[in-house]
Amino acid sequence: MSTFWIGTGWKMNKTVAETRRYVADLKTRLPSELGSDYALFVIPPFTALAAAREAIGAAPVLLGAQNMHWAEAGAYTGEISAPMLKEFEVDLVELGHSERREYFGETDATINLKVKAALRHGFRPLLCVGDSAEERAAGASAEAVVRQVRLAFAGLTKADFSRCLVAYEPIWAIGESGVPASPDEAKGVHVALHAALKELGAPKVPVLYGGSVNLENAEALASEVAIDGLFVGRAAWSAEGFASLIAKVMAARKRAGLARAEVMHAIG
Ligand code: PGA
Repeated sequence: MSTFWIGTGWKMNKTVAETRRYVADLKTRLPSELGSDYALFVIPPFTALAAAREAIGAAPVLLGAQNMHWAEAGAYTGEISAPMLKEFEVDLVELGHSERREYFGETDATINLKVKAALRHGFRPLLCVGDSAEERAAGASAEAVVRQVRLAFAGLTKADFSRCLVAYEPIWAIGESGVPASPDEAKGVHVALHAALKELGAPKVPVLYGGSVNLENAEALASEVAIDGLFVGRAAWSAEGFASLIAKVMAARKRAGLARAEVMHAIG
């Protein structure tokens, strides 16, 4: 079984004190056996990265940042560079979330610069792509996100791709007013993304689903073969919520794996 990713981005939430409490709590709730079948990550705000790194210690939880500038340093007031993130031993960098694209003017071109900078510094870029409600209504969901992936990953080498992650996050599915994608609809877009990645020479890039993932829909989403992970907001902003979600996903994937094995056995 290939690695299944489960992570949470906290957006503009949690102080240093809240981060310490969250991570300490999460550590007591993690399943004892994760093995290489699962990769977990948390993405706190910049101000809580040091506290999160310290609190995580040797626990099997990767640490991510929510954004990063493409330059090493310079006159970019309010921005954070890769060498700055390096000090917190950040593992991954979330890039191109739809909130960054919508409110902070991120474009496919700047995201491409950021992806390359993240790779240069040894981080794993977690590229977020998403279709708008209008694109969905026009039947252009797959087309829209495939274009975002192509532009964000332009100029990458095969070795670069081995470090990349993609999250499919439909804009209409994110946040309080979002409606989660059905597993079937998500699957359709994931299949298209996998096909496009294969064409780019990157057949192994994991594609996670994000957008109103919760305890009710996590099992069905995680049982889809084309979905390689879940990227969760609100439902994982408490350690209890995140841990319950992890447990649900692990149980569902175990059942799905067993069912597949039975079919394989039956058909010889
Ligand atoms: P949500 O956020 O799970 O709260 O909808 C998802 C995201 O923006 O990554």
